[in-house]
Amino acid sequence: MLLQRWHRRLEERGKLPPGPRWWPVVGNIFQLCWAPPHVLFSKLARVHGPIMTLWLGSMSTVVIQSNEVAREMFKNHDMVLAGRKIYESMKGDYGHEGSLITSQYGPRWRMLKRLCTTEFFVTSRLDAMRGVRGRCIDRMVQFIEDASANGTKSIDLGRFFSLMDFNLIGNLMLSKDLFDPQSEKGANFFHHAGKVMELVGKPNIADFIPMFRWLDPQGIRRKTQFHVERAFEAAGEFIRERMESMEKGDCEGRRKDFLDVLLEFRGDGVKETRTFSSKTINAIVLEMFIAGTDTTTSTLEWAMAELLHNPRALKIVQAELRSNLSYGKKLEEEDTENLPYLKAVIKETLRLHPALPFLVPHMAMDSCQMLGYHIPKEKQILVNVWAIGRDPKTWEDPLVFKPERFLQPNTVDFKGHHFEFIPFGSGRRMCPAVPLASRVLPMALGSVLYYFDWILADGIKAEDMDMSERMGIALRKSVPLKAIPIPYKLVSMDCCI
Ligand code: HEM
Repeated sequence: MLLQRWHRRLEERGKLPPGPRWWPVVGNIFQLCWAPPHVLFSKLARVHGPIMTLWLGSMSTVVIQSNEVAREMFKNHDMVLAGRKIYESMKGDYGHEGSLITSQYGPRWRMLKRLCTTEFFVTSRLDAMRGVRGRCIDRMVQFIEDASANGTKSIDLGRFFSLMDFNLIGNLMLSKDLFDPQSEKGANFFHHAGKVMELVGKPNIADFIPMFRWLDPQGIRRKTQFHVERAFEAAGEFIRERMESMEKGDCEGRRKDFLDVLLEFRGDGVKETRTFSSKTINAIVLEMFIAGTDTTTSTLEWAMAELLHNPRALKIVQAELRSNLSYGKKLEEEDTENLPYLKAVIKETLRLHPALPFLVPHMAMDSCQMLGYHIPKEKQILVNVWAIGRDPKTWEDPLVFKPERFLQPNTVDFKGHHFEFIPFGSGRRMCPAVPLASRVLPMALGSVLYYFDWILADGIKAEDMDMSERMGIALRKSVPLKAIPIPYKLVSMDCCI
């Protein structure tokens, strides 16, 4: 019996997708240390093909790196490959089964996903919250203006985008300005949520070598648990405050936010979820911050970096903005509908710098056959959308930042149907917040380009910019983008003198 099982496993291994030779226990880890994984995997694909097996320690992983294989995965095996690989850092007592990102595909995930698509990111609610988004972006513009008026030489653009994103999600979820200087709780939540993001993005040896699990050698599980608990405490306070004001009837006539939706939820027929426990609500609140801030920030920072690196594109996008709006008019969300070059800049940024280069790791819920290969149950599946976006077979001049490629009629979009461009994923597990991101990204980028001109800090020339990447929870610029803002009106007045 044992022998039979052993034989069957060997047979199955024979049909695994090809890959480099690996060592017991450590697998391919030592071959993968000298460059970021998305870059290395795409190089290995040239030898082993677009579907490849790698051993990250004893964690066996299938890496998908072409649009054809991605199409096969999402069109024909979407359901069976819609599980989630749960890493050690996520395994604390946080009620992770209550969060959408980490829950396994099944009735509970379906219920949470429905809540997102029909309540959080539905057009009617997003329309109703247009003013909130506008206010958060206006505040960022104001902060930048203040910084430039105070004689600040240059600003770290990523920091300003990150504060705006965090404040925006705080307002959408909790109707709270988490950056209100009076709000100690807000600052507390920001600090601990930020730490959780930092820790979850770190490679953890305990994920790769099971004998280290109990040891937690880098302390990642312990530290994550600590910061999640503190973030939950802060979120718990917000929830308590809201419940108290609901009881007092203070919420009458107030715009409904995501927290109201969660508190009013009375089940959708799925067993055990008549109302959400406070742990589940905490988990959902925290996950929206984790999923929504670094992804949006990294996209905006890369977009500005690419524009400053490509002054011709910067000139075109600013000319489009300033010629479409009459002088002195405030930029509104609806204006961005008529700014095709601005939208093309965002798509081109997402092609070259997808915030999550491997999506969020999937897991096979059962074994299956894909393109003649055996994919065993519980195998981790990584889709290298970074490599797919730079594939020379699909994209002309793949490494050149050329927003014009997205200007032709009927060009590809990021809704998950064009497998050569899937920065938000595709299929069941696709990002549910695409409708929100499609509004925030052009409005935030458009605002910093419309209201300011930009010069690189420290006299750096466009061609000398460091465009290298750093892996965290999202793919960030390894050297933060520093630039000097010059308010647009000031420049125009100077011109008139
Ligand atoms: C530029 C912005 C964003 C990008 C590029 C992005 C990208 C992604 C990607 C690639 C995934 C994983 C898809 C997969 O595993 O197949 C994902 C999942 C998710 N995203 Fe986003 N995202 C963005 C913004 C947001 C925002 C603003 C929120 C919420 C406020 C959000 C909430 C989520 C959630 C909850 C999931 C998990 C879905 C699931 O597991 O079923 N995302 N996102």
